[in-house]
Amino acid sequence: MTNFNPWVTPLNQKLIETTGNGWQIEYEFFDCQSDILACLTYTLFQENWQHIGLGHIEQGSVLELEFQEAPKKCVLYDGYLTVIAQEWHFHLCIEETIGGPNGETPPELRKHRLISKAAFYRRINPEGEPRSWGIQFWNGAGEKGMTIFFPNPYVEEENLLPEGKANWDKLKLYNELREIYVLGQKPIPFTKNPFKCPYIAVCTSGRCYPSRKWQPTFAALKSAVEKADLDVEVRTTGCLQVCKLGPVVFYSEDKTWYSLVQPKVAEQIVQEHLVEGKKVISHVYPPGNGELETVSSQD
Ligand code: FES
Repeated sequence: MTNFNPWVTPLNQKLIETTGNGWQIEYEFFDCQSDILACLTYTLFQENWQHIGLGHIEQGSVLELEFQEAPKKCVLYDGYLTVIAQEWHFHLCIEETIGGPNGETPPELRKHRLISKAAFYRRINPEGEPRSWGIQFWNGAGEKGMTIFFPNPYVEEENLLPEGKANWDKLKLYNELREIYVLGQKPIPFTKNPFKCPYIAVCTSGRCYPSRKWQPTFAALKSAVEKADLDVEVRTTGCLQVCKLGPVVFYSEDKTWYSLVQPKVAEQIVQEHLVEGKKVISHVYPPGNGELETVSSQD
């Protein structure tokens, strides 16, 4: 979405799914275009990580995870939101995956990966009482994907509370988000997509630069960006889809990959590309005219 709209238009679509044991799941669908998903997932994983769980639910198999501390990283790259907790991480496709410098993602695969449906849900027991609350995502093939779990008012520290003692305050977050995303009664509390700030990133994975000495490149980028007083975040990242000729660097604003970025080159990229708007052609990846094919990494 180019023009950010803080109001979600209600879809007014509900679905009741029966689970075969007298229980039902009531889904309320909401518009899941990319800016909306970005705002919602930022709110969940960056601002409310301590209040939610996440996982997958299928008949015969349930995975539930909780954050013990704030996620170490929560970033969007090539359509995938990556959230890194202390002991585990996940990827969730909230935008089209275009692909990397070595090839574009085929259109069918882009469609398959991307969230195509999203709904707030309540699981309702045979007596008609809602007993659990969450958000469900589906991918482009209609397959159930990640489930978000909200605090359960009937449960305290894994114990069921006595009948009539439910703590309804625990549904505050669910109710607030439902008002914004399902009912469209309140605006999204953002003025732009929170994952879309300009950034320059250096890969810290090992395939592109086996020595993993990315730190000097990172430090050079950081000090050059600070010196130039640019509003650009300098960050580390996982694989940037180049996987050779490291250190590898990516600039988000015009999707440029650089290879063999030693500290001097990092300074040059900041000055010439970020400040003056001219790419450092000799290090752009893939290399033009094969110049870089003859240059070997310093590893
Ligand atoms: S491992 Fe660095 S780009 Fe893939």
